[in-house]
Amino acid sequence: MAFSDVDAVVFGVADLDAARRFLTDWGLTSRIVEADRLVFETQDGGQVIVRPQDAPDLPPPIEPGNTLREVIWGAPDAAALEAGLARLTAQGVAVDHRDGMARARDPNGLGFGFRVSQRRDVVVVPTAANAPGHHGRVDRRSPVHTQARPIKLGHIVLFAADFAAMRAFYIDAMGFILSDEYPGHGAFLRCRMRGEHHNVFILNRPGKPGTNHVAFTLSDVHEVIGGGIAMAQKGWKTEIGPGRHPISSAYFWYFHNPLGPPLEYYADDDFCTEAWQPQQFVRKPELFAEWAITGGIDGTTRRQVVAPDSSGRGHA
Ligand SMILES: [Fe+2]
Repeated sequence: MAFSDVDAVVFGVADLDAARRFLTDWGLTSRIVEADRLVFETQDGGQVIVRPQDAPDLPPPIEPGNTLREVIWGAPDAAALEAGLARLTAQGVAVDHRDGMARARDPNGLGFGFRVSQRRDVVVVPTAANAPGHHGRVDRRSPVHTQARPIKLGHIVLFAADFAAMRAFYIDAMGFILSDEYPGHGAFLRCRMRGEHHNVFILNRPGKPGTNHVAFTLSDVHEVIGGGIAMAQKGWKTEIGPGRHPISSAYFWYFHNPLGPPLEYYADDDFCTEAWQPQQFVRKPELFAEWAITGGIDGTTRRQVVAPDSSGRGHA
């Protein structure tokens, strides 16, 4: 394992002030607010960096409009970083150095940077559950969250213009591990053998590279629900959610936002080891969502928003 996590994501946007408002409401910590640069952090120091779309030092966009422009991958230490870069080079990936960081592109053309991870360990205490004969929470009430505080950058989901090339790149050149797969259509990949179910999910979309969404890890389902309702109260629109993915087991809630691709709150995903058995699935809507609310939950009534589209349209 050379690259262990998504250390930072860099967006190019038209409206930095709208992005600043969203990321503040999203529950990230503001570190830098300048005319041409925002830096926000998750609890563990993972960074969301926002730049103007036309910033000359950004990698070129792989799709029009506001979108993800660069992913910074973190290695656990300098030796792992060097090993990872050597692996990329051995696989024929062009690695160059700019602004003090090794950089490359994936087969979609998405910009990558590589560094020793700047993330910190965070102590997370999810809400314990009770069941008859098994009481994890005694003499304590279960919390109602009024604001999410994202712990870390969990995963990115990319539309693959050349699916076979992307799948091979992330496994062979990046060294990621296949967790589950829709053969020919989608591949869930994790950075670490012992790690969360996926850090990258690639989706086949021939000839049209892009970013499907970027996801932030929360402590538990209660924070997904409370954090999502808080976003709804502040006027941000749901893309889909809340809901639950059968593949990865995670609870989710996706929001539209001024950074471009939907951003996701999620929690309680599978944790995989050497013993995890990857499965192959045939793509169908009930594998994207065991259940889901289209349009979200109204922040005032706490009831579902009446959705213009309840078709269960295909997502991941
Ligand atoms: Fe996701």
